Amino acid sequence: MSDTHFGFETVDETQKAARVRGVFDSVASKYDVMNDLMSMGLHRAWKAYTVAVANLREGDRVLDLAGGTGDLSRAFARKVGEKGTVVHTDINEAMLRRGRDRLLDEGLVLPTVICDAEVLPCASGSFDLVSVAFGLRNMTHKDRALAEMNRVLRPGGRLLVLEFSKVAPPLAKAYDWYSFNVLPRIGQLVAGDADSYRYLAESIRMHPGQAELKAMMKSAGFGHVDVHNLSAGVVALHVGIKC
Ligand SMILES: C[S@@+](CC[C@H](N)C(=O)[O-])C[C@H]1O[C@@H](n2cnc3c(N)ncnc32)[C@H](O)[C@@H]1O
Repeated sequence: MSDTHFGFETVDETQKAARVRGVFDSVASKYDVMNDLMSMGLHRAWKAYTVAVANLREGDRVLDLAGGTGDLSRAFARKVGEKGTVVHTDINEAMLRRGRDRLLDEGLVLPTVICDAEVLPCASGSFDLVSVAFGLRNMTHKDRALAEMNRVLRPGGRLLVLEFSKVAPPLAKAYDWYSFNVLPRIGQLVAGDADSYRYLAESIRMHPGQAELKAMMKSAGFGHVDVHNLSAGVVALHVGIKC
């Protein structure tokens, strides 16, 4: 048995997925409004940037991992059109249901799959693009998940990892104050759950920074990796090419 981290807590690695599931079961119903409040709407710009970088064409095949309430899946589906495919996935049923209902309300019917990004039920080489937005941080074995993402991409296919990252040092103090004082309070007021938003702040600090994640993606088989810092590194978009 090995240890891993759940925020700042050290836990047995067999327990992490259940703890993460608890977080997303708890926040699913308030997830979208909390995203807008906590990021002051910025998550929309980060996702729009990701969609622009994805530069999808009609007919492309896309796998959206940890897709949650479906923001990226929805935007990608509009780009690939009826000839393309976007598979909307997540390990958490509550998050995925919420996303699926939202997309159905907007007239979008996408293949929706509950799956663990560490063990993908997909054939090798079957996607042009794989995305994971704000999901990798929560995975127990990030190396296994990245290797799986590489496996299911076709040669030349791209992986887009949008994730919290290491903020520029001059902003670090203010960002820490906001993360550890304001976020849990908003979580308590809006979602009745301060702990899940404390976990969010802690998990961001434990997540590999820009250079470390780039190295992990290279080890997982991505021959070329570009890093795009957004909002002074609060978030980074890593783009890996399978080559
Ligand atoms: C912060 S939400 C992000 C949702 C969406 N991608 C977005 O950007 O709004 C993180 C998601 O990662 C999912 N997740 C955590 N571990 C996972 C795993 N091993 N495989 C697939 N999804 C996972 C959670 O269930 C949750 O829905």
